[in-house]
Amino acid sequence: MVDKIILGIETSCDETSASVVKNGREVLSNVISSQVDLHQKYGGVVPEIASRKHVELIIPVVNQAIEEAGITPDAIDAVGVTYGPGLVGALLVGLSAAKAIAFAWGKPLVGVHHIEGHIAANYIQHKELQPPFVCLVASGGHSHIVHVEDYDRFKILGKTRDDAAGEAFDKVARAVGLGYPGGPLIDKMAKNGNPKAVDFPRVYFEKGCFDFSFSGIKTAVLNYLNSAEQKGEKYSVEDVCASFQAAVVDVLVTNLISAAKHTNSKKVALAGGVAANSMLRKELEEQAGRAGLEIYYPSPILCTDNAAMIACAAYYEFVRGNVSDLNLNAIPGLKL
Ligand code: KG4
Ligand code: ZN
Repeated sequence: MVDKIILGIETSCDETSASVVKNGREVLSNVISSQVDLHQKYGGVVPEIASRKHVELIIPVVNQAIEEAGITPDAIDAVGVTYGPGLVGALLVGLSAAKAIAFAWGKPLVGVHHIEGHIAANYIQHKELQPPFVCLVASGGHSHIVHVEDYDRFKILGKTRDDAAGEAFDKVARAVGLGYPGGPLIDKMAKNGNPKAVDFPRVYFEKGCFDFSFSGIKTAVLNYLNSAEQKGEKYSVEDVCASFQAAVVDVLVTNLISAAKHTNSKKVALAGGVAANSMLRKELEEQAGRAGLEIYYPSPILCTDNAAMIACAAYYEFVRGNVSDLNLNAIPGLKL
């Protein structure tokens, strides 16, 4: 087989990233410039600031990715780019850069769905992994359970009806006075807390439905904090973090395993920023292990937004002949 080299570009939220990946699975470079410091003081991503920063960073980041990969532009076979879902201004920067590069260097353009990219991070981590499998994609913007039937064929088995799991982590972190992004900070605090200290609600829907709802648990945490403050009672931030995290992890793991059983799947995977959560990984190992399922998850750097996962997904689209034309537009609410 002739090697295929893909340049991937990701700018859907607050990471400007470019990567060069060989044959879908071998990462030659993965440059990620995070804007977290810029957005931290606002307690969340400010879309206009994100777009402006992407404009400043995109060309240096792409150049660095090509340089670190030790290739010249003529070695690139295609340019893969996230075109949705995400912040429209942020998406447009990466997409415009990708189109310009594809046009100037005469390379095919491959538009990639951001969630497809998160799922593909597992192929980079686990060279042997092949579809079909069931994947939980949990990030700041999404909480989906996806049946990955093939590299380019997906069926959504469940999704959140309100907040995404990562969004709940970020909101609860803000409420207990931790910084942004909240997920990693709650993960750390929870290590010294009692997950059984507070019984926060777990929302399940009818049998055979794998949807989520996380807005209730966020409200329950806020009520708990307000009531403690009103009564002048002290509470342990560590216990609140551990109990909140336990409730979210319970629902994520239970629905993922039920969805796997429902589809007769032997393999389950995690993807997205929340997949970096240490308790989620541990619980899945234990429970899916007991259910006889094979478990896959990417290293933390491949869980959060990065362009290597986009280049990997683009490779599988490209080898199937799924290329885009230069009229490709950013679609903030793109469906899988
Ligand atoms: O995938 P990602 O980088 O961006 C989106 O596509 O949204 O995910 C970011 C989200 C944030 O909400 C962040 O708090 C959460 O992932 N996150 C975590 C952890 N690391 C990142 N949530 C729980 N535990 C973690 N260790
Ligand atoms: Zn993401």
